[in-house]
Amino acid sequence: MGKRKALIAGNWKMYTTVVDGCRLALDVAKTCSELTDREVLVAPPFTILSEVAHVLKGSKIIVAAQNVCWAEKGALTGEISPVMVQAAGGSAAIVGHSERRQIFGETDELINNRVRGALAFGLLTILCIGETLGEREDGQTFNVLADQLRKGLASLTGADMANVVIAYEPVWAIGTGKTASKEQAQEAHAFIRGILVQIFEKTVAEQTRILYGGSVKPANIDELMAQIDIDGALVGGAALDAELFGRIINYK
Ligand code: PGA
Repeated sequence: MGKRKALIAGNWKMYTTVVDGCRLALDVAKTCSELTDREVLVAPPFTILSEVAHVLKGSKIIVAAQNVCWAEKGALTGEISPVMVQAAGGSAAIVGHSERRQIFGETDELINNRVRGALAFGLLTILCIGETLGEREDGQTFNVLADQLRKGLASLTGADMANVVIAYEPVWAIGTGKTASKEQAQEAHAFIRGILVQIFEKTVAEQTRILYGGSVKPANIDELMAQIDIDGALVGGAALDAELFGRIINYK
């Protein structure tokens, strides 16, 4: 098996307009110009995707959308198609983020449509899954993860998985300053990899990158990345500060 290449992804959420977004992108690019053993991705808001992609041209940073529709075009008010993402200079998309699920009511079925659409147009697709605090306290964590994974990846083939990254983001750790301990994160990642073996096969599971997300900071990135099944991070708050994000990218 080839070693999984680490991926550090920054999700800018509903922050930044063109000037501060482009500056942030350029500052991030400076912090990772020398790295060859890991990939870096930023997901700016749709409104500045094209400007950010433009200033990052020539860098190796992957530019992603924070969500994406399944269709190429159509009467789908408020949605952005995979073709639009590509035309703006993006090559990836985050799908199923817990804020989409919790605040905007996106279901596993809808998210599966998005995943399939993104893949059909060749986007690198980050599927986010994760349990709420209530689900963890009720002992439902593994059931929730297995269910979101099976439904989110429904009808995909093993070959499709070459373009899929899973992000495990416990909802109780997002933006709260509470990170899962490295043991809790490793346990969930190992479980997710086990489910991938069941859905696909061992080689697919071994090649799929699983990112951890939820209050990732310079102070916890090194120990998280030292876990055998943690292949990268999906970073929110700390991704808006080039110095903090740079330190996370340059984890040891
Ligand atoms: P956070 O967000 O790093 O601010 O907790 C992570 C995410 O929502 O992807």
